[in-house]
Formats: sequence, C-alpha cells, structure tokens
Amino acid sequence: MIEPVVLVHGGAGNIPTTRVQEKIDGVTKAAKIGYKRLLSGGSVIDAVEAAVNFMEDDIAFNAGYGSIVNLDGQVEMDASIMDGKNLQSGCLGALKDIKNPISLARLVMEKTPHCLLVGEGATKFAKSQNVPILPPGTLVTPVALEALEKWKKKGGIANTEIGPDQNPGSVGTVGAVAVDRYGHVAVATSTGGINGKMVGRVGDTAIIGAGSYADDNIGAVSTTGHGDTIIKYCLAHAIIKSMEKGLSAQDSTTKNIDTMTERLKNTAGAITISNKGEVGIGFSSARMAWAYQKKNELHYGIEHDQHCKELIEEEC
Ligand code: GLY
Ligand code: GLY
Repeated sequence: MIEPVVLVHGGAGNIPTTRVQEKIDGVTKAAKIGYKRLLSGGSVIDAVEAAVNFMEDDIAFNAGYGSIVNLDGQVEMDASIMDGKNLQSGCLGALKDIKNPISLARLVMEKTPHCLLVGEGATKFAKSQNVPILPPGTLVTPVALEALEKWKKKGGIANTEIGPDQNPGSVGTVGAVAVDRYGHVAVATSTGGINGKMVGRVGDTAIIGAGSYADDNIGAVSTTGHGDTIIKYCLAHAIIKSMEKGLSAQDSTTKNIDTMTERLKNTAGAITISNKGEVGIGFSSARMAWAYQKKNELHYGIEHDQHCKELIEEEC
C-alpha cells in the first residue's frame, strides 16, 4: 500500500514579497482540501479537481477569478486534467466566462471523444453540459487590468506568468497532483496564461505533455512558468520520461527544469508525484508556492531550499 499524497502549486515566478503570505495560505488550504477529498472516498481525479477548484476561486491565483487578461483586456483561460489509470485527458484552450475551467476540463475528459476543446466550441460544450456561462467580464479583476496597463506602458514580450517587475496583477498558474493508496495518480492544471499574451494564445496548461501528464506506470506532473517555453520542451512529459529511466521524482524534476532553462532561457516550476508516493518539487524562477499533505503532515514552501512542516492536529 502507498501512503496517499496531494501536492499542489500556486505558480512559479517573481512573486512579490507582499503576496507571499496569501500564496502560502492558498496552497496549504488547497492541499488540505484535496487530501480530505481523497481520504473521504474520492478518487485521485476528485482530489486534484477539488484542490484546483479552490485556487481557481481564490483571487490570489492566476486561474478562474483573478486570471490575467489578454491584450484586449479579456480573460481567456487554459486547463488540463489527466487520469493516470487509462491516460484519459480533458483540456481547454482560450476558454471564456467559465467559473471553474478544471471542472469543465473533467467533462471534456469524461464526456467527449476528444482531448482538447478551444474557444467557441468549448463554450458550446459547456452549454450542452448545463455549465453556467458567466456574463462577459465577470472574471476580469481591476488588478488584472491594471497589470495589463502597466505591462503595455513598459512594453516588451510576455515572458512569465508572474511579471518580472513584481507586477501585483501577475499571480501564477495553479496545479495539483495526487496518488492514492493503490498507486493511481492524476493531475489538474489551470491558468489565465501570461500577462501581455495575444488574443487566442493558448499555453502549456492546455497541452498534455507540457502543462500536465499522469501515468499510473510512473507518476504525475503539473508545470508552471513560461508556457511557450514549456511547450517546446514538453516539460511534464520530459520529467515523466526521466523517471521512467530511473531518476527519482525530485531529481527528474530539478534536472529537466534546469536543462530547459539553460537551453531556452526562460523559467518554470513543476510538482511531481511518483506512483510510489515520492514527491518532486522544483523551480528555476525566484519563487514558487507549493504544499502537500501526507498523513497528518502539512509540508509547504515558496523560497528555494525552504521546506516547512506542520502537524495538522484537528484533522487526525
Ligand atoms: N476525452 C477522451 C480521452 O481522454 O480519450
Ligand atoms: N504557464 C502558463 C502559461 O504560460 O500560460
């Protein structure tokens, strides 16, 4: 029997010091929510969906409400979910006006023969599943618009999901991986994308092998960072392949992120779980908030070489 784990991240980048605490609060809460779901009879898919739903609803994260906006000031989101048991997948690209993209991605996985729906087709599918379509603009926050204006004035290319200038509106993709006692794994990742992105741009989070990968034979990975770079490197799948060749979850995560950053000069982060319950956490950006629960232990951090541990007494 494997010891179940739910591990989450809240985005890699230059997270401003003023936002560190809200990120830690958000990821620790999300890890506990996912873990509780898993231990109360939920599947690994239920667990990662619950953890990501929580962060999508939290304005501290760049997913769902609180998403970054595109150059026209609209929220266009990407999401992916994958079940390690059978490699079933559901992904969304350039999705508008849906409160919880990861739950719609789950419906793509379970109810369609396809892996990826985008734009208008994704909205049409949501309607067919009776998923509410929010009035246009509901997900746009003043902070995101302010971040766009600031970005436009400064110019340059969109190069991180969290602004290099400690932009308060740039707040990071979210993701979760989980393993249950039988070694089943799953992943879910959700994002608003990167600040300064073109209309219709779809990033790594919508793409299996880049933003998400899960295979019960090996493990599961969720990535964050500069999506266009992550796509070229197939970061999630690269980490899984290194594990298949014998590297640990941690070594595989660190090695692939470092190699990607060295080769392509952009940063990323990833969380990895093996089918034995080994954890891998790595980022080449300045910070990445992460947390996991295993038994009554809550582990979390946001800085390099930071690993805090607390006992969750009330839930034992
Ligand atoms: N959503 C179809 C599949 O994963 O095969
Ligand atoms: N990693 C999120 C994005 O680039 O869209």
